Amino acid sequence: MEDLEGMKRFYRGKRVLVTGHTGFKGAWLSFWLREMGAEVWGYALKPSEESLFSLLNWEGMHQAFADIREQKVLEAFVRQARAQVVFHLAAQPLVKTGYEMPAYTYETNTMGTVYLLEALRKCEELLSVGIITTDKVYAAVSKEAYREESLLDGYDPYANSKSCAELVAACYKRCFFPESIPISVFRAGNVIGGGDFAADRLLPDCVRSALKGEDIWLRHPFGIRPYQHVLEPLSAYLYTVYCQSKLPHLADSYNIAPKESSVATNGEVATLFCRYWGEGISWKKQKDAVFPKEADILRLNGEKIEKNIGWKPKWSLPRAVAETVAWTKAWRDGNSVAEQMRRQISVYEKEGYL
Ligand SMILES: NC(=O)c1ccc[n+]([C@@H]2O[C@H](COP(=O)([O-])OP(=O)(O)OC[C@H]3O[C@@H](n4cnc5c(N)ncnc54)[C@H](O)[C@@H]3O)[C@@H](O)[C@H]2O)c1
Repeated sequence: MEDLEGMKRFYRGKRVLVTGHTGFKGAWLSFWLREMGAEVWGYALKPSEESLFSLLNWEGMHQAFADIREQKVLEAFVRQARAQVVFHLAAQPLVKTGYEMPAYTYETNTMGTVYLLEALRKCEELLSVGIITTDKVYAAVSKEAYREESLLDGYDPYANSKSCAELVAACYKRCFFPESIPISVFRAGNVIGGGDFAADRLLPDCVRSALKGEDIWLRHPFGIRPYQHVLEPLSAYLYTVYCQSKLPHLADSYNIAPKESSVATNGEVATLFCRYWGEGISWKKQKDAVFPKEADILRLNGEKIEKNIGWKPKWSLPRAVAETVAWTKAWRDGNSVAEQMRRQISVYEKEGYL
């Protein structure tokens, strides 16, 4: 990422639609966009009380708390926003919920993408689009790192609904959008960072236990995941969507892999968490629990985005966990979470781009 200043100039004053802005990644992305001077228009379900979005308490934001499955409401909002840049994050993002509510998961993740792209077809001032899927879109057939060309056939309903969203995006791009409007899809791995309160995710589970001073119980301590700090994929989305606005042929599907050394087992991540948290916390393997199957091993190859866009990961796994703990302790101790985010973004920009 060589052109930080160019990127900041691009977003300043732009009308940017963020779907899923009340979620963990959406709130961080909206915060970063607002820091760069963008006019953020958010479309998502109402946030729960315990969420990063609620903590940030934004006044005067253009937003709709509505369901992405309500096509007419979505279209009216997109029309009103006159979106120039779009980041699509709204989704049912949990594997376990996907098993419990498969039809809802497909309606939200797959049909939600159809409805958004339908709305965007009518957007006259559109410049650049990023669609956020997941590294789980690949068929779990290989222990090799997945490349962008690998087969799309996510294992469980969540993963598979995102594979379907990818096919939808590819078709709409081919059939309905001119080449001058670049649309990329992004496949990032498991993201960690301050402000994630979701159920059934490793770091939020660690935080919940640590706050109660209890040991952490792990479901899959030997499962391997490519963990990365939330600023890593967000910087990749922001930078690629900026670059493709100048050079539309760069629009493509991109893996966003962490540093190779950051591919770790859940147990290793929990060990790091316990070390940085201190206060006598440790973790144990949960016995006799029955949990739905997920792909066991997931590795991503991140060469394409580095070659085409010049983006590569910056923060190591220990650094990502340390920053997550720093944010969480600042929040626990009643300090400003916005200041903590501003500091982390500023440090990331300096370390990452200069
Ligand atoms: N967190 C991760 O580790 C991770 C990894 C890979 C990909 N992703 C993807 O990144 C995106 C954001 O994930 P997150 O971790 O911030 O999740 P999150 O659950 O914190 O946020 C999801 C957002 O989508 C919105 N949403 C959900 N259902 C909706 C509906 N029916 N209509 C309108 N809005 C709806 C929610 O209101 C929320 O704003 C998702 O697309 C997810 O699949 C996340």
